Order: sequence, then C-alpha cells, then structure tokens
Amino acid sequence: MNNPLDHLESLVAEAVANTEAAVSADELRLAEPLLIGKRSPFVNLQKTLGGLEPEERKSAGAKLQEARRRVEEVFAARLAVLEAAEKSARYEADRLVLGDVVPSRVQLPLSAGHPGVVALTQQSLEDVFVGMGFTVAEGPEIETDWYNFEALNIPPAHPARGMWDTFYLDLGEPETVLLRTHTSPTQIHLMEAAVTAGTLPIHAVMPGRCFRRDTPDARHLAAFHQIEGLVVDRGITFADLAGVIETFTKAYFGPDIASRLRPAYFPFTEPSAEFEITCTICRGAGCRTCSHTGWIELGGCGMVDPAVFSAVGINPDEYSGFAFGFGIDRCAQMRHQIADMRALTDNDIRFLRQFS
Ligand code: DAH
Repeated sequence: MNNPLDHLESLVAEAVANTEAAVSADELRLAEPLLIGKRSPFVNLQKTLGGLEPEERKSAGAKLQEARRRVEEVFAARLAVLEAAEKSARYEADRLVLGDVVPSRVQLPLSAGHPGVVALTQQSLEDVFVGMGFTVAEGPEIETDWYNFEALNIPPAHPARGMWDTFYLDLGEPETVLLRTHTSPTQIHLMEAAVTAGTLPIHAVMPGRCFRRDTPDARHLAAFHQIEGLVVDRGITFADLAGVIETFTKAYFGPDIASRLRPAYFPFTEPSAEFEITCTICRGAGCRTCSHTGWIELGGCGMVDPAVFSAVGINPDEYSGFAFGFGIDRCAQMRHQIADMRALTDNDIRFLRQFS
C-alpha cells in the first residue's frame, strides 16, 4: 500500500512556494485555510492516517505535524514581512512634506483678549508719570492698621478714620489686619525702604487696588483703583505739587482741561488740598455729572505731614515732600465718559470691546 505521506515533501514545497508568492498581507491571510488551515493538505492527510498500524500512525502523525510546522513558520515570516512593508508604505504616504501645509486663506473667527479699560488707564497714567521722571512702585493689598492708618498720622479712634469704611480681616487681634482703603500705605513702605537702604530722595507713583465698605453706585465701587504719588527731597514746596498736578492733567486729559486745588483736610498732609479738574463731560459749562459746578474731584494731595516723616524716621528739618492720590477708575470714567462706573465690573462684552 502507498504511504499517504509519499508526497509530503512536494506538498510542503508547494505550500512554501505559494506562501512566498503572496504579494499582500490580505492575500496571504485569505489563503491561510488552504496553506496551513482546515482546508490544507495537512489536515486532509491527517484523516487518511486512520488506516495505518498504530506505530506507523504515530510516526506519520509526527512527520505530518513537523511538515505543517515548517510551512507555518514560513507563513508567519512572510506575513510579518508583508505587514511591515505595508505599514511603512502607509506612513510614507501619510507623511507631510514641505509644501503640503499651506497657510489658510480663511480668516478664522478667533479673537484675542486684551487688557480692560482700567488696566489700560493705569498703563497710560504710569506712562505720563514716568515721562515726568517718576518711578513706579507697588505695595500689598492686605495691610496692618499701622501702615493703613497709624503711620499716616491717623491714630486709633481718630475721627478721621470715618473717612474710610474699612474691611477688616479675621487675622490676629481684632481690627489689626485689613484690606487697604487707599494706596497711601505704600508711601510708608517706600519711605521705610529708602531710609533703610539710604536711597532718598523718592519720586514715585504707586498704583493699585483698594477696598472700601461702600455700596457701589454710579461713581463708586467697593473694589477700586488708586494711584498714589510721593516726592521726598530737599527743598520741595507746594508750588512743585501744584506744577506736577497741572502738568499731569494737561498731559493725560488734554490741553483744554485745567486743574485746581481747593483747601481740604487729610491727616497725613499739611496743608492738604482736593484736586479737581474741568468736568470732561460738559467741558466746564456745568452738567449733572459735576453737579453744575464745571469741576470734578479726582483726589487729594498736600505736603507730607512732619508726623508721617517721624513715623518712618525721616528728618522733617532736612527733607520735605508732597503726596497725592486719586482714583484710576475715576480717570477712566472721565476720559471715556462712562456714565456709570459699575459698567467696569459688569463684564458686558459689548462694553469691554470698546477699549481694545
Ligand atoms: N488717600 C486719600 C484717599 O484715598 C487720598 C490722598 C489725599 C492721598 C491726600 C494723598 C494725599 O497722598 O496727600 O482718600
């Protein structure tokens, strides 16, 4: 009787040849059942081994297994080669080369943000003062009672404390730590630092956020911005103060806006004055915004009180100085004729967009 495995080697050779002839991984996968799977000659031959003697069957089975394994090896190797080639061809096709990426001619509807009107106002105020020879400094928004009041010649229980409705923080002894009610405490930090470092004189402006327990209305916000000015030098007089205020007013608001100083009281300056400018709404003719006076109050100023110099260790016989402080939000309101200050915090995009 013919051995069923007589042609095994030629079957293997044929399967190997067919495997290696495959040109794509897909073609090879489709041919798998015929080459090594259920419909392969190896499975058919397996079925014919039943007629052999047990010993013979065992060795024929092993031979068959081994032959099939050889084809399986070739199959796996060929499949790996075809798959790798197809993958790199795909990557090659997907790769972007110079020139594939061209700038879009379509205007995308993207818009960048920009600083708000208060920040822009602060920047222009700083620019004006830097142009006049001032430096710019900043101080903390959280202050102690000493910096915000006492060093500024406002001792505890002084009636002038009523000028500032204060937010106190729940830190330390009651009513000792607070949100600064004005930028004036930054004057104290600056003078202390200059005394320690021996860097007097001082010509500085100090912008920043302030807080008062006020109900917001058309002209007030509970969180608002001020810019403080301080000059400490030898031989400084009230005329220097008036000159700086007038120069600033013309530079920032324009040549047709004038400034004037009216007597006032602040504990940290002596003499003190209120600083007013021509109403920018009616240009001085009188309107509701300026209560028909033609003038708008911007802030306060005066000659640094000797008591303040003493608090920071500056000799008032050697040095004199002036200080001023006014609202940045108020400047923005006057410059841009914003009827209601609360628009600054409403976050209405139609309002904000006007100031890019
Ligand atoms: N700090 C004062 C306020 O907020 C404004 C002020 C007045 C500042 C007189 C000064 C000054 O520097 O000299 O009401």
